[in-house]
Amino acid sequence: MPKKLAFYLLTFAVSFVALAQTKPILPYKNPKLSVEERVKDLISRMTIEEKAGQLNQLNGGEFTGPAKNDPGQMAKMKQVKEGKVGSMLNVTGVVETSAIQKIAMEESRLGIPMLFALDVIHGYSTIFPIPLAEACSWDLPAIEKNSSIAAKEAAAAGIHWTFAPMCDIGNDIRWGRVMEGAGEDPYYGGLVAASRVRGFQGKLDDDAHLLACIKHFAGYGAVESGREYNLTDFSRPALWNKYLPPYKAAVDAGAATLMNGFNVLDGVPVSGSSFLINDILKARWGFKGLLVSDWGSFSEMISWGHAEDDKDAAMKALNAGSMMDMQSQTVIRFLPELVKEGKVSMQAVDEAVMRTLEIKFRLGLFDQPYKFSNPEREKKMLFTQENRSIARDAARKSIVLLKNEKQTLPILPTVKKLALIGAFADSKDDMFDFWIAKGESKNAVSVLEGIKAGFEPNAVVSFSKGYNIDGTTSEILIKEAVEKASLAEVILVNIGISGKMAGEDRALANPAIPEAQIQLLKALQKTGKPIVAIVTSGRPLILTEVQPLVSSIVQCWILGTETGSAIADVLSGQFNPSGKTVMTFPYAVGQIPVYYNHFKTGRPLPSEPDGDMSWKSRYRDIPNEPLYPFGYGLSYTNFTYSDFKLSSSSGSKGGTLIASVNITNSGNFDGEEVVQLYIRDLAASIIRPVKELKGFQKIKLKKGEKSTVQFTLTDNEFSFFNADGMTKLEPGRFHIFVGTDSKNTQKLDFDLK
Ligand code: GLC
Repeated sequence: MPKKLAFYLLTFAVSFVALAQTKPILPYKNPKLSVEERVKDLISRMTIEEKAGQLNQLNGGEFTGPAKNDPGQMAKMKQVKEGKVGSMLNVTGVVETSAIQKIAMEESRLGIPMLFALDVIHGYSTIFPIPLAEACSWDLPAIEKNSSIAAKEAAAAGIHWTFAPMCDIGNDIRWGRVMEGAGEDPYYGGLVAASRVRGFQGKLDDDAHLLACIKHFAGYGAVESGREYNLTDFSRPALWNKYLPPYKAAVDAGAATLMNGFNVLDGVPVSGSSFLINDILKARWGFKGLLVSDWGSFSEMISWGHAEDDKDAAMKALNAGSMMDMQSQTVIRFLPELVKEGKVSMQAVDEAVMRTLEIKFRLGLFDQPYKFSNPEREKKMLFTQENRSIARDAARKSIVLLKNEKQTLPILPTVKKLALIGAFADSKDDMFDFWIAKGESKNAVSVLEGIKAGFEPNAVVSFSKGYNIDGTTSEILIKEAVEKASLAEVILVNIGISGKMAGEDRALANPAIPEAQIQLLKALQKTGKPIVAIVTSGRPLILTEVQPLVSSIVQCWILGTETGSAIADVLSGQFNPSGKTVMTFPYAVGQIPVYYNHFKTGRPLPSEPDGDMSWKSRYRDIPNEPLYPFGYGLSYTNFTYSDFKLSSSSGSKGGTLIASVNITNSGNFDGEEVVQLYIRDLAASIIRPVKELKGFQKIKLKKGEKSTVQFTLTDNEFSFFNADGMTKLEPGRFHIFVGTDSKNTQKLDFDLK
C-alpha cells in the first residue's frame, strides 16, 4: 500500500476514534450510571408533551373495553413517533411488539422504550384454571408456579406487563368477575395474590417474567346487586378489614404496579380518590411503583358525576395521585394546559413520569429494548407439553367435590358402560372465558374428549346432547339422553353455563342452572341409575334443585386447556379431589350476598335446633344457611379430627398460642385435606365476624395415616383495623375453631388478657 494512502487511512482512523470518543453518551443512555441519575437526566430533557406521553397508554390490539373515541391505528403510530405514547396494551407477539418498539426507539426524539401490557389472567397460550378455580386448590406453591409459566410464555411473546392478579374480594355470584379473584376471604385472598405476584415477577431481572398489576384498587368487588360497574358503598371497617388486605399483601409482595378500579369510595370515583391513593397507597403503604387507570376510568368520572369534563377528570385523577391513563387520552390532551394553568403541579407530573421510567429501566428496556423479542424463543416456549402437564395438575387440584353419595365416585374399572350427557361437554367454544390471552379453545381437551380418553376402551362411553347450548331442550333431546342413560351403569351429566358468561360485563341476575338442564336431570333420575353432575361454570351457581336429583356433584369451574383430562383424572380416581370452595354456594339468589365471615346480628337464630325462631334475623321462605359453605369440599376418603387443644386457655399481648389437632385418614383412599383455622372475637370496639380464617395447612395422608397439625397464633391473628385503619388488639374472649370447612368445626375458648 502506497505510503501516502496508508498515512491518510491512519489519520482518518485516528480522528474517527477521537471523534467517537469525544461525542458524549447522553447520561440517560449510559448504562454505567445509576437508574436515579439516568432518570433525573432524562426528565430534565423532556418536554411537557413528552412527559404526558409517558403517562399515556393506548390500546393497540383487540378491544377489552369500549371502542369509543379510539383514534385509530395510524394516529396511534404517529403519536408513538412523537413520543406521546408510553405504553400499549393488547399488542401481542414478538413481531408486532418489536415493530412498534422500533418506531419508539428510532423515530421519536428521545428514544424512550414502550411497555407492552396484556391481561394474562390465567395463562397466555397454555390456559390454566380461572383464578377462582385455582384458589380452590389451596396450593400456594402451585399457584405461584402457574403464574410463572404464564409469565414465561407471555414474556417470550414480547409482553412486559400483565394486568393481574385481581385482588377484589367478591362474595356476590351475580358479578361475573368473581372468576378473576380468589374468593371471599381477605386473609386467603392476600396469600393467593402474593403468590401470583411472585410467580409473575420473579426478581424482574430476566426476560421470562412480567410486571404484575394489582387490580382494581380498591373495592370493585362490592358492586351493588352484583351488577357490573355499579355503585360500591361500604363502611370504613369493611374497607380496612375486608377489601384492602389482599391489595396490601400484594404490595408487600413487591407488586410493581396497580390499577385503579371503575368504582367509588366514599362517594369519590377511586381514580380520583386522594384518600385511597395519596394517603393510603403512597403515604401509609409506601408504594413506589406505577398506578395505571382501568380502561377509560379517568373519563368515567364525568359519567359518575364527579368531573365536569375530560380536562377536569385528568386534573382530579392526577391530583389524587393517579398516574398512567389507559385509553381515555385525557392526560395526553390536557396535561400541558393543566400544568400551564397551575392546576396540576409539575412535581406531581414528574413523580408519575419518574415511576414509569424507573420501571422501564428496571426491566432493562433502555439498554435492551428488544430483550423480550426473540422469535425463536417465542416458538419454543409456548404451549409446551411440560406447560400443559402442569396446567392439568392445576386443573385437577381446582376441582371441588360437593356431593358423593353411595360412593358413586370414583368410577372403578369394573364399570363398563358410561353415558355422558350435555352439549357443553362437546362444545369447545363454550369452554373458555373472555380472559384467555392467546389461548385457543380448539387446542383444549373437551369434557367428552377427556372422558373418552380416560375411560375407553375399558368402558364404552356414549354421548348425547340432552340440551342445547342456548339453554333450551326438547322432548327428542331428552328422550335420546334417557335411552342412552338407560343402557349405562353410571350417568355423567355436564351441566352449567357457558364460559362466555364468565368475567367482565357478565353479571347475571339469576346465576342458576338453566331450567332445561333441571328438566333433563329429572328425566334421567327416573332411570334409577347413579348420576354424576359435572358442573362447568366461571362462578358458583345455585345448585339447590340439582342437589336432590343426583348422587354426586363435581364443581369443575373453567379449567382451561386440560379441562377434560383433569375431570377424567378425578372421576376415575387417578386423582382424589382435594379442592375446597373459596366462595359460598348460596341456597337461593335471595340470600346473596351470603358469605361465611358474616356478622351475628342482634337477633341471631337460636343455636339449639328447636329454639324459638320468632323475632329473629331470618327469611320466612328459605334457610339462612347456604347450600355449601366457604372452605367446603369432599374427598373420596374421610378425615377424622381429634384431640383439638390449645397450649393455653388464656394469654396476654405479645404471647404465642399453639393450636393443635390430630387428623386421621380413616377412609380407603390416600388423600389431601385442607385443615382450616378460624377465630371469633366475641366482643370488640367494632363488631367482628362470626368466623375469620387465620390459618390453613394442606396435608397429604395415606389411608390409615394420622398426623398432628399445629397452628401458631400471635397478636397479628387476634388484631383488626378500626374505622381509621389503625390496628387494634383488644383483650377479651375469643373462640378458636379448627375444621374441614367454615361450618364443620370444633371450638375452644381463649381469653386474651
Ligand atoms: C378492562 C378490565 C381490566 C383490564 C383492562 C385492560 O376493562 O376492567 O381488568 O385489565 O380493561 O384490558
